[in-house]
Amino acid sequence: MESFTKADKRTVYCGTLTSADIGREVTVTGWCQRQRDLGSLIFIDLRDRTGIVQLAFDDGTDREIFEKAFGIRAEYVLAAKGTVRSRGEGAINRNIPTGEIEIFVTSLKILASAETPPFAIVEKSDVKAELRLKHRYLDLRRPDLQRNIIARSEIVRIARNYFAEQGFIDIETPCLIKPTPEGARDYLVPSRVHQGKFYALPQSPQLYKQLLMYSGFDRYFQIARCFRDEDLRADRQPEFTQIDEEMSFADEEDIMAVNEGFLKKLFDEFMHQPLEIPFKRMTWKEAMNRFGSDKPDTRFGLELCDISDLVKDSGFSVFKGAVEAGGSVRGITVPGGAKMTRKEIDSLTDFVKTYGAKGLAWYKNTAGGPTSSFAKFLTEDETAAILDRMQVGEGDLALIVAAKNKVVWDSLGALRCEVAKRLGLIDKSKFNFLWVTEFPLLEYSEEDGRFYAMHHPFTMPMEEDLPLLDTDPGAVRARAYDCVLNGTELGGGSIRIHTTEMQTKMFEALGIGPEEAQEKFGFLLEAFEYGVPPHGGLAFGLDRVVCLLLGLEDIRDVIAFPKVQNASELLSKCPAPADPKALEELGIAVVKTEEEEEDV
Ligand code: AMO
Repeated sequence: MESFTKADKRTVYCGTLTSADIGREVTVTGWCQRQRDLGSLIFIDLRDRTGIVQLAFDDGTDREIFEKAFGIRAEYVLAAKGTVRSRGEGAINRNIPTGEIEIFVTSLKILASAETPPFAIVEKSDVKAELRLKHRYLDLRRPDLQRNIIARSEIVRIARNYFAEQGFIDIETPCLIKPTPEGARDYLVPSRVHQGKFYALPQSPQLYKQLLMYSGFDRYFQIARCFRDEDLRADRQPEFTQIDEEMSFADEEDIMAVNEGFLKKLFDEFMHQPLEIPFKRMTWKEAMNRFGSDKPDTRFGLELCDISDLVKDSGFSVFKGAVEAGGSVRGITVPGGAKMTRKEIDSLTDFVKTYGAKGLAWYKNTAGGPTSSFAKFLTEDETAAILDRMQVGEGDLALIVAAKNKVVWDSLGALRCEVAKRLGLIDKSKFNFLWVTEFPLLEYSEEDGRFYAMHHPFTMPMEEDLPLLDTDPGAVRARAYDCVLNGTELGGGSIRIHTTEMQTKMFEALGIGPEEAQEKFGFLLEAFEYGVPPHGGLAFGLDRVVCLLLGLEDIRDVIAFPKVQNASELLSKCPAPADPKALEELGIAVVKTEEEEEDV
């Protein structure tokens, strides 16, 4: 290993050299992508974060340097000085930007040697994620991941600039906060000084950004780290980042307009393509009825069709029973879908079962005579009415679910996406932004026998629905809105409650009594006494924004050190047991470990 001196300092990044640099003397630094030994010629592809440049060693190369180049292996760290020269016609590589030139090396240093890496450092690796995550520092050397992480930095820069230009003040809120009873599960942090007491890591800066409005900052902004102990999915991590904002003296229109402006700027400066604003809007009810989802992907049709009224008096107990039980019967029509085999339909049936549906009724309208799983239970007129309502033409397939509404929506909402994916109906070049508005304020949990806030307990109900708060709380709509892109919830927010009276009413609806409200949110209620402006805000999931703009599917690809499905981080192997002394200081005794749990 040789020492790094002043003379080895980079004068230019590898990937930036072009034929305009021919004749220039340069120093480049980086990793050996590969070494090719052709006898009297040696080539080394040197890689840094900007790309690759070819280092050339030939008859004219100093023997000692040539010998050194001979011994270089993949991932060695090098500093090379030399002259940029043309590769000559036959040797040009059109696949890389530096493909017309190479560096004829006159000085070479090996700054570090390397073991053969456990996987090749190449674009689009198909090596198992687990192995790559264990060696994330190597994985992050791959050009596609480097591009993602650099793109993320660019998006954050644009966000900071935009919100600063719009008069938002960047304010940090605490990461050790009071545990909150609502929302996802908290990550708890034990206090050493106050034994038996805990901080929580913030699920979002929600309460603090509201307090900042009470303080008169008027427009707040933060790139905020959030923590939620919930099940992981492709678009969910236990720690993630929000582009978080709050505005005073503002309503929904102001908040949506500011954020449309932000996304437009992102499209101008990052995507280099136009974005049409304002976005389309859809109420929650319309989204559920048409798409079975509060985050509909509107890039394709396959909309839901309600046929409950047509089958409620039929002789088919599955359909009839669902309507009688307060549920519904709905379906989607797949144009040209009659081509699907029984096996394919069976696999769709299995698919909807994972969403709680008991089965999937189907009708294939084929020229040779229709086949169906349910027509025999209905009269000809009933079937004809269904086909007419669902517009099932020749060659089409109708897929129907009968269940309680939530199951019908969940299963058909997911089914239309699955079918669209399988049939290639999704135009991946489209960016369909949408505001979903008028969410229900409350959501009833059958399990707990009580209402929960759908967004959070500080969301303002819609004025015209206020009388329903006492009589039919489930029907009250909220002044809440989500920003949806191609079937993903990118961000969400609401207008907040800013009076004690309304907040108390909300706590009542949630079954939070005055004592409990005092204990948990006393500071908020007290603050209401001192002049609180009307305010509202929104937070985007930064990881999701980056992921979708880059056309990726898993947010782990835009997070430098993500966690895996079971919330552990494979590189450093966390979570890990704590030092017994530290536990003692915290007054904590571990009563059961993961291993013991597994043994049970
Ligand atoms: P909400 O809970 O809807 O609202 O979160 C806002 C956005 O954050 C992203 N997000 C996540 N991203 C990755 N992993 C997760 N586990 C995760 N959870 C949420 C989503 C989501 O739309 N305080 C409110 C915002 C407000 O009212 O101003 C809040 O946190 O993209």
